Amino acid sequence: MTRVLRINEKNIDHNKIRYAAEQIKKGKLVVFPTETVYGIGASAFDEEACKKIFEVKHRAADNPLIVHICDFRQLQSIAAVSQNLLDKIKKVWPGPVTFVLKKKVLPDIVTAELDTAAVRMPGNKIALELIRESGVPIAAPSANISTFPSATEARHAIKDFNGRVSVIIDGGRSRFGLESTVINLSRKPYTLLRPGAYDLKDLERVFGRIIVPKKINDTKKSGKVLSPGMKYRHYSPNTRLVLFSDNDLISEAVRLAKLNKLRFALLCSEETAVNFRNERVIILGSRKDLGSIAKNLFSSLRKLDTFNVDIGFIESFDEHGIGLPIMNRLIKASVGNIVGHRGDLLKIFNSG
Ligand code: TXA
Ligand code: MG
Repeated sequence: MTRVLRINEKNIDHNKIRYAAEQIKKGKLVVFPTETVYGIGASAFDEEACKKIFEVKHRAADNPLIVHICDFRQLQSIAAVSQNLLDKIKKVWPGPVTFVLKKKVLPDIVTAELDTAAVRMPGNKIALELIRESGVPIAAPSANISTFPSATEARHAIKDFNGRVSVIIDGGRSRFGLESTVINLSRKPYTLLRPGAYDLKDLERVFGRIIVPKKINDTKKSGKVLSPGMKYRHYSPNTRLVLFSDNDLISEAVRLAKLNKLRFALLCSEETAVNFRNERVIILGSRKDLGSIAKNLFSSLRKLDTFNVDIGFIESFDEHGIGLPIMNRLIKASVGNIVGHRGDLLKIFNSG
């Protein structure tokens, strides 16, 4: 049912792209790589095909999709953009940033009936070629079942969607491993809707000041949601994940887990791992290179579920640069299980 096509981004096999594009034109679903994470795509103009994305992902209908384009002609067919804004957007695309813009023509299902559309030109040649060959913009959310970690390797998408999509393009590991930054440009002041792989400071150099809502990485349950997708439990493994907003409490947690006979795994930097040589550890990367942590994050969360443990303990990171989206994903992946002081630990162990 599902064909897995291995394509090398540096030496693209156009026959394979043509085959995948044929499927898009026929209203089928195609999983494809981008520089951020894998996407599960369909023709953005095909309402029925887009409906299937929501079905196979178990995605809530009020959570709109990102529309992926390969050139600026496509942008102007789906969104209203002034010349001034277009000049700025051209400086950052293709790249790992999505813009919410005034919508022109797109089926309501794609935009969840909003009058705006989220658009992105991905910085991955396989994705760009697929869109070009399909001749239409491709609507694609991340290629994971809703609430679970995003796919950063084809095997993740195969696990979630084998038999449910026509093609899965295997383009290797995602370069960034975290989703695009989402910015609302549809009205001023411009605001950050989701931190992501494109550094906010670099975007501000082009677009001027971008408002970062205070609650974007609030560790407490926040009220109003900024972007439809931000209100759901997200990025979570099946295994209970506990995030330490104070990393000094990890040792205490390990001691208590042993006392309570809980099987646990530690997800941490190589620097932290040296203190836990005898424990079951998944190394995320180095604290000195947060990009490495980002790249390994989702695959590590998926790996946790293969360990057969009761609980996963994950370390927190500085919220600067790519640390901001890393922490954003960790906070969402561990909702209700964030440890900032000793009292929180007792709650974790008492609730089993
Ligand atoms: O890197 C990425 O952005 C990946 C790759 C595949 O491109 N895609 C991705 O899509 O992460 P998804 O569906 O997992 O996340 C899209 C986010 C959601 O939080 C959604 O609510 C928001 O973008 N979004 C989409 N359209 C919107 C709109 N019109 N207004 C506000 N937020 C919107
Ligand atoms: Mg997603």
